[in-house]
Amino acid sequence: MSRTETTTDFTDATVSGDIAGSEILVDHVTKRYPGARKAAVDHLTLEIPAGEIVTLVGPSGCGKTTTLKMINRLIEPTRGRIVIGGDDVTKMNGDKLRRRIGYVIQGGGLFPHMSVAANIAVVPKMLHWSRPKITERVDELLDLVSLDPDTYRNRYPGELSGGQQQRVGVARALAADPPVLLMDEPFGAVDPLTRQRLQDELLRIQGQLNKTIVVVTHDFEEAMKLGDWTAVFSEGANVVQYDSPEHILAQPANEFVEGFIGEGAGLKQLNLSRVREVELWPAVTCSPGEPTADVLRRMDEAGHHEHAVVLDAKRRPLRWPSAKQLRQMETVPAGWLADLPVVSQKSTLTDALNTMLVSTTGAALVTGVGDAFAGVITVEIIMDTITRAQREAEADYDTPTGENEEVAAQAGDEEPDLVGEADE
Ligand SMILES: Nc1ncnc2c1ncn2[C@@H]1O[C@H](COP(=O)(O)OP(=O)(O)O)[C@@H](O)[C@H]1O
Ligand SMILES: [Mg+2]
Repeated sequence: MSRTETTTDFTDATVSGDIAGSEILVDHVTKRYPGARKAAVDHLTLEIPAGEIVTLVGPSGCGKTTTLKMINRLIEPTRGRIVIGGDDVTKMNGDKLRRRIGYVIQGGGLFPHMSVAANIAVVPKMLHWSRPKITERVDELLDLVSLDPDTYRNRYPGELSGGQQQRVGVARALAADPPVLLMDEPFGAVDPLTRQRLQDELLRIQGQLNKTIVVVTHDFEEAMKLGDWTAVFSEGANVVQYDSPEHILAQPANEFVEGFIGEGAGLKQLNLSRVREVELWPAVTCSPGEPTADVLRRMDEAGHHEHAVVLDAKRRPLRWPSAKQLRQMETVPAGWLADLPVVSQKSTLTDALNTMLVSTTGAALVTGVGDAFAGVITVEIIMDTITRAQREAEADYDTPTGENEEVAAQAGDEEPDLVGEADE
């Protein structure tokens, strides 16, 4: 099938169910900046599946931004080609291409002299949408990124917090409903709490939209959290490992990747920590035979819940259907699914991670006494544990060891005394 530049809209993927994104193929691409000794991107080949989030993570200067900007042709490759939704875009008109690819940069990159509404309307205006259609779209997008349209549409970027500006940046990138969203260190300029909230929001939005999203970050934790797939880059956009976050955490390809996970301190912690020691995610639960409408309503009220756990009369997990699956049924199905990812509270976090490898949700169900359901463990919870272990390892390093030994010795001395007193 051949299409001309003007008709290209990457719509090929939209026919397959509710995936609204397009596959991206980076095919033997090299970028050498004029006068540079080494290529910034050296023979990179990367397949980015339609409708999924791929994160590119690596140290500063390894070629992440260059890679991203070659996808929307803000930078021309020296060699190789980029194929989006089956179309070679390397020769396409760059301006037209960029109207079909949302682009989000750190801080949002908003035009300071334009209102929020005008910022969001930039691409729709270029596409000559009608005024009422643009107005409606702006409000719809502000809703999507959790900003009240009446409050925010007429404000200027300078009147918004960093997180709000970033949200408007995402809304602007999504304005013309592009199949592809490129994000370069999108949440790098905000405080940790806002950052976490924006990450959660991106995941929620993606749950609704199913775009193809490429996120560039130097933050490994963010890469693990956001990515369905993560490519770990070293210098020259050399792909050291390209896999699911679960796989990367469980089986880092080499010391370079291990270094990202946390110098071994983090990995060691996974073998030492038990599932019962971490705080689990609550889940919406239900029983076989219950009307699915009731369950879906509870999931809605709980927010951010895309799956529900079906429990038997003894509260043992039977199934773990998605909201989408539940919507196709009248009542909650009975019966036990053998391949359910389940770990015990006694399992180590390494066991949990290995169990997640078979799960498509990057999560596992946890059971306690009598195999009763206790909660959900996620890759995110495991990343938290790794990060905390790293921080504690650093803090220990700062504490003079003498003091620690003294405290330990005292504690050790006291115990037999107490036992002795009790005996007397
Ligand atoms: N416009 C440019 N001209 C020359 N060299 C550049 C230019 N942009 C980036 N580089 C170089 O290319 C390499 C990759 O940069 P970049 O893609 O920005 O990395 P990252 O986003 O991973 O930090 C770096 O060595 C950088 O100095
Ligand atoms: Mg960069």
